[in-house]
Amino acid sequence: MKIFNTRHGVQQYLQQQQAVGHNIGFVPTMGALHQGHLSLIKQAQQLASVVVCSIFVNPTQFNDPKDLEKYPRPIDADIEKLEHAGCDVLFNPAVNEMYAGNESWHLDIGRLEHLLEGEFRPGHYQGVMQVVNKLFTIVKPDWAFFGQKDYQQVMVINQMISRLNLPVKLVMCPIEREPNGLAMSSRNIHLTPDDRVHALVLSRALTQAKAAFKKGDDLLAIQQQATALISSEPGTLLEYFEIVNGETLLPATPDSRGIVALVAARVGNTRLIDNVIIR
Ligand code: PAF
Repeated sequence: MKIFNTRHGVQQYLQQQQAVGHNIGFVPTMGALHQGHLSLIKQAQQLASVVVCSIFVNPTQFNDPKDLEKYPRPIDADIEKLEHAGCDVLFNPAVNEMYAGNESWHLDIGRLEHLLEGEFRPGHYQGVMQVVNKLFTIVKPDWAFFGQKDYQQVMVINQMISRLNLPVKLVMCPIEREPNGLAMSSRNIHLTPDDRVHALVLSRALTQAKAAFKKGDDLLAIQQQATALISSEPGTLLEYFEIVNGETLLPATPDSRGIVALVAARVGNTRLIDNVIIR
């Protein structure tokens, strides 16, 4: 695997690859890689002849400095995992390689960035769009791969691509779960053994919501049941459980074409998100 820390280095290498006919699949990450990230690499390998992964803990998407500080950065283990997965290129820049001081950025994508996660993490998705747009400009990928676990992030990036007319195709890849149902996340590293047990209530509530929808229960009743279930779990503080239209993320109606249930909760000191596509 080739490793680059500078924009210039990775750009030059990828331009050479494109010049000889390769296409590029891109997996942007913040590191602390787990099976979920590796499944994105695998998916990218199926479509692209050169697979690029970036590891960059992006400061502009953190609204809590403590959260940024404690974000895990196991770079040696990450490199080993990427080598093992057969990734071709790693781009691992420092902050000053990506940002020249205090840059301003704003892209209006309407209500999408202010709902749900946006309400609890104001400005988060502006930071995500800012860095993903920069990374796209550097890597110039044909395809970019994102995990369904941050469903709202996928919708936000989709909006950015369409508003800025970016020449990249977005691929959303399914959530990877541990055998007990816990959605894989870099933040799981912070869960204590007790938290790990309590956290299972999230996937349980989502699975039950999907089953209740199939049975024909109404959306409000499903949401209320899930909210009650999660709220009764010790050590767990529910932030939201919403059943939404899969494109707008506004509350779903029975005739919404796609319907997704999205949840966020604090389990111990760790904030977790999860979701399920229920139609
Ligand atoms: O999902 C993530 O890991 C990050 O939000 C991303 C897309 C790499 C941007 O920093």
